[in-house]
Amino acid sequence: MSFNLRNRGLLDLESFEPRDVRFLIDLAAELKRTKYVGNEQPRLKGKNIALVFEKPSTRTRCAFEVAVHDQGGHVTYLDSAGSQLGKKESLKDTARVLGRMFDGIEYRGFHQSVVEEIARSSHVPVWNGLTDEAHPTQVLADLLTMEEFGEMPLHKLSFCYLGDARFNMGCSLLVGGVQMGMDVRICSPKALQPPKELLDRMQVLALRTGARISIEPNPMSAVKDADFLYTDVWVSMGEPQDVWKQRIDELLPYQVNAQLMQATGNARTKFMHCLPAYHNLETEVGRMVHESFGPSELEVTDEVFESEASIVFTQAENRMHTIKAVLVATLG
Ligand code: CP
Repeated sequence: MSFNLRNRGLLDLESFEPRDVRFLIDLAAELKRTKYVGNEQPRLKGKNIALVFEKPSTRTRCAFEVAVHDQGGHVTYLDSAGSQLGKKESLKDTARVLGRMFDGIEYRGFHQSVVEEIARSSHVPVWNGLTDEAHPTQVLADLLTMEEFGEMPLHKLSFCYLGDARFNMGCSLLVGGVQMGMDVRICSPKALQPPKELLDRMQVLALRTGARISIEPNPMSAVKDADFLYTDVWVSMGEPQDVWKQRIDELLPYQVNAQLMQATGNARTKFMHCLPAYHNLETEVGRMVHESFGPSELEVTDEVFESEASIVFTQAENRMHTIKAVLVATLG
């Protein structure tokens, strides 16, 4: 069965019905297959899409660009350095201009209220490429990846998100997992747990989808039998650098390492990360943190990141297939 998502944007997952999310995952799997066998039908011919990035990106930008190109459309990239955005022209005015020229707009930036304003002002579909509060296209890729590796329907699978669960990744994974009826475990210190209002709404939705939600601060108990362990960087884009010390003190016990992988008691447990990840000293930030505070591996050890259990690069690839599904469903 298919659902009509035409002319809808994707500002957050919560405003989509579980059946819409299911439809997008299935469409992404189908588009992945057609790309692999060389039978892709371009459905975005003649479509112009603006990619607006107020924060840096590798995966999200490339995923949008390749997806649109594969589907026969065209993209224009705008960032704060090379446009009037925010300096000489408000986002609202920029959105009104872009809405007159483009068929849709991807936006990555800070507050959720900004992407909502762009959607209101532009009158074209707007897709959230990450805000402080939500990262919906990442979670669609994560759900597709879990289904591929879990070899079972999502409602029979469990994942445990470890780390700071107050922001985009923790919150969006909670929403996507509950929408798909999964066993969703959030493992964070009390101060870094998702907002209570979101948890309350998800508990209500879980009654409808059959999801189980647990908030467990103890990593060793939280990961038991989990199919997937998921983590993210401990300091998000836009947060001040001086929070590193406190975050390391709070989150080092939540590092995904070989001992924690073993504590699942499940030899098939996979490791997931939205990337980029601090797993060695090959990055400027990794070296800065090491020189200033000591640890040479942060949210995940190099051993786990490079292990057979790590499926992070399939997740990254699936960004493109799922973003393509969103574009085809809403514009194609
Ligand atoms: N996961 C993710 O959003 O990656 P980028 O920041 O590289 O887009």
